[in-house]
Amino acid sequence: MLVCSCNFITDSEIVDVINELLDEDCWQLIVPAKVYHAMQKRGRCCGCFPNVVDIIIRTTEQYHAGRHSTDDEIFDFMIRLKQFHEENRRADLERRQKSHRAA
Ligand code: FES
Repeated sequence: MLVCSCNFITDSEIVDVINELLDEDCWQLIVPAKVYHAMQKRGRCCGCFPNVVDIIIRTTEQYHAGRHSTDDEIFDFMIRLKQFHEENRRADLERRQKSHRAA
């Protein structure tokens, strides 16, 4: 399924990159920009980023479920990952509202 219409990126391509990043460091916090950078792409309108965040969270959960990570490690990491993305989402909304008011 096409996730990013600006760059023609599918969900399976995103999942593959996330798994490669997790193979390098399974506890790193992955953001959409890191995924796109690894694909040598960049966000243009960035309208796909909320969906990419959902794919990152889902893929990371599945990655750790299939490994020898303990439930406590996974729980702590997923809480940190979700908080990190929620803070980024809030900051992005505030930025958009400020730029909308300035226009
Ligand atoms: S839809 Fe992905 S950058 Fe525009």
